Amino acid sequence: MKPPADARSGGGEPLLRVEGLSKTFHDRRLFSRAGGAGVRAVDSVSFSLAAGETLGVVGETGSGKSTLGRLVLRLVEPSAGRIRFNGEDITALSQRQLRRMRQQVQMIFQDPYGSLDPRMSVGAIVAEPMIVHGLWHGGRDDRVLEVMRQVGLQAEHRNRYPHEFSGGQRQRIGIARAMALQPKLLVLDEPVSALDVSIQAQIINLLRELQQQADLGFLFIAHDLAVVRHVSNRVAVMYLGEIVEIGPRDALYSSPMHPYTVSLLSAVPVPTVDRERGRDRVVLHGEIGSATNLPSGCRFHPRCYKARLKAENPDVETVESQGERLPAACVLHQPRPVDAGDGHVAICHFPERGGDRSEVAVRAVESSRGAG
Ligand SMILES: Nc1ncnc2c1ncn2[C@@H]1O[C@H](COP(=O)(O)OP(=O)(O)OP(=O)(O)O)[C@@H](O)[C@H]1O
Ligand code: SF4
Ligand SMILES: [Mg+2]
Repeated sequence: MKPPADARSGGGEPLLRVEGLSKTFHDRRLFSRAGGAGVRAVDSVSFSLAAGETLGVVGETGSGKSTLGRLVLRLVEPSAGRIRFNGEDITALSQRQLRRMRQQVQMIFQDPYGSLDPRMSVGAIVAEPMIVHGLWHGGRDDRVLEVMRQVGLQAEHRNRYPHEFSGGQRQRIGIARAMALQPKLLVLDEPVSALDVSIQAQIINLLRELQQQADLGFLFIAHDLAVVRHVSNRVAVMYLGEIVEIGPRDALYSSPMHPYTVSLLSAVPVPTVDRERGRDRVVLHGEIGSATNLPSGCRFHPRCYKARLKAENPDVETVESQGERLPAACVLHQPRPVDAGDGHVAICHFPERGGDRSEVAVRAVESSRGAG
């Protein structure tokens, strides 16, 4: 595994740098319900990504992953913050100036069928971005065939239509279309979630090969923590629009700092051998909250096992929140980032610290059982 982005880029400019990026949707129907607050889909998100690196983005449904991906391509306009791509601030570029950037940043979707025009042949689908970007000069047919070969499609497939292909092959067509412009960065939004496990592995291997050949940066969005662990160098965990934890993959999976990450990881199915050693499941209270009406203080506090454990300590000041006594810090004050070193950062007043995790997990399970 390669080291984290900032280390790899030697302190120089990474391929992608996102600073304080936010998106609030002001949906008219929601205006009346939420008093004009809007949906805070992405809230002050910052990270960087180096060439050749994969940053995995995980989180429950509605946590803002797709919005973040679309912001990076400026398919949705940011409400605040900056995006630097290849050293250039792309936040202020006009739509015309964005065309150049869009050659270099491509998106791959979960449902390739939905993103491929069913009336176009595979050859036309792969050629279209080159035509749109004015790169279709004589002899480009060779380029179409080259890209198709790169992604494991055969030359005779070029005259066929998307419905004639399996899900995995359709995803290869989507990847070929994205690769036609020789991008530097791919935003992959759940690229294998709709595929069978064996096909997932083939597509992941293909993506890896393409990444290595062209030193591509990947922003890899997925629900599946096992897939993200497999593909990522670093991982960002999103909760209600915020990156609550980010760090090198191995550090984050072996020593998660944020109680939300601990909860997500404890729900991942484990192989039998691990199960024999025993494993505790940390209960995640309730459902993900509303991005129109964020909880006060730490937005995770209504669901956090750690806050409930801390509240048992007589030395910790507590306040009432929805019928429970919870730490005043969690309910009233937004936590600040805590850095464990090596770019492993979590936003929590009481982050987990290495060795105490299993003890905390056991006690959390006990306390949730006690609570009924
Ligand atoms: N165009 C839009 N208008 C209004 N609200 C939106 C819009 N797009 C997304 N949202 C809201 O923003 C929040 C984040 O949505 P987003 O699709 O980014 O989440 P996600 O993490 O990708 O979820 P999933 O895992 O289900 O794909 C949600 O509350 C969603 O309802
Ligand atoms: S700040 Fe408090 S509520 Fe938020 S994650 Fe940390 S312990 Fe839980
Ligand atoms: Mg999504």
